[in-house]
Amino acid sequence: MSSLQQSVVLVKPDALQRGLVGEIVSRFERKGLKLAAIKMLILSDEILDQWYAHHKEKPFFGNLKKFMQSAPVIAMVWEGLEAIGTVRKLCGVTTGYEAEAGSIRGDLSLSGQHNIIHASDSVKAAEKEKQLIFDADELFDYDKGEYLWVYSVEERE
Ligand code: CMP
Repeated sequence: MSSLQQSVVLVKPDALQRGLVGEIVSRFERKGLKLAAIKMLILSDEILDQWYAHHKEKPFFGNLKKFMQSAPVIAMVWEGLEAIGTVRKLCGVTTGYEAEAGSIRGDLSLSGQHNIIHASDSVKAAEKEKQLIFDADELFDYDKGEYLWVYSVEERE
């Protein structure tokens, strides 16, 4: 049984610097996902320490933080059936030079760290990430007319 999910996506500083924001947003839109939130911000130390808590002991943690704070990120919430897995497939695997052609990283990145984009890896992670970045009034629920064509009658119930 498929479920309606929300995935938190960060367009990272490398993608902003390379002028890839529109390209990336467009890929999620074309898939039929619904944009529930979007904002531009510089990630604080507090947010990054919690966001990457599982990477804190890794040798690349310091440089990862510097990179993630080198310019603003575009944070978004994308909603749809099985959105967590769907968004991760659109992104491709972590490392740009290993990612499948056709995916965002496969088409746009050659790097392990400068890999363009972050996407939630589970429903639990998405909830944590949403709370770290967005206030309640920055998340929007609205009827998306396109859903009539994106999903079948049963899938919309
Ligand atoms: P992401 O999967 O969004 O979250 C963790 C990030 O750490 C990852 O993207 C990369 O940007 C970065 N990262 C992962 N592995 C490495 C590595 N071996 N060296 C440097 N950065 C890495």
